[in-house]
Amino acid sequence: MSNERAWIMRSAGALLAVFAACTCRAQDASAGKAVFAQCSVCHSVDGSSSVGPSLKGIVGRKAGSATGFRYSRGMRNSNLVWDAATLDRYLADPQGAIPGNLMPFAGLADKRARADLIAYLASLK
Ligand code: HEC
Repeated sequence: MSNERAWIMRSAGALLAVFAACTCRAQDASAGKAVFAQCSVCHSVDGSSSVGPSLKGIVGRKAGSATGFRYSRGMRNSNLVWDAATLDRYLADPQGAIPGNLMPFAGLADKRARADLIAYLASLK
């Protein structure tokens, strides 16, 4: 086999490996909006508090900082800023991620559902 041909074969193999490893699906905010149905019983997106704090502008916000909501000490002292990574950890396992927080929600095991949900949360400006 010529060197050039061997190179092409190796490159094609590497490309295939990349495609195989990649789930190749962007996060989908509209699918995330459907996932949010189970959050909306406690969370508004318009700035008003209910059972939980409003999630308007949640991405980029310091945890436990919405005005007019009484947070648990665990949440207030968590020293987190909500971004894709911290939200993913919290939504997978609220009690494990922030001990002492009082969100009565067991967590969302499905990684894809969390990614879609976080894309939706990021759209709540
Ligand atoms: C049964 C009510 C309830 C449900 C359902 C619920 N939450 Fe919460 N959530 C709360 C409460 C109460 C808090 C405040 C917890 C605390 O102070 O410890 C909270 C806190 C949060 C926070 C931190 C907010 C901040 O200002 O720092 C985020 C983010 C959050 N919830 C997202 C979600 C998402 C996303 C879902 C849906 C997958 C969800 N929650 C489902 C009640 C709920």
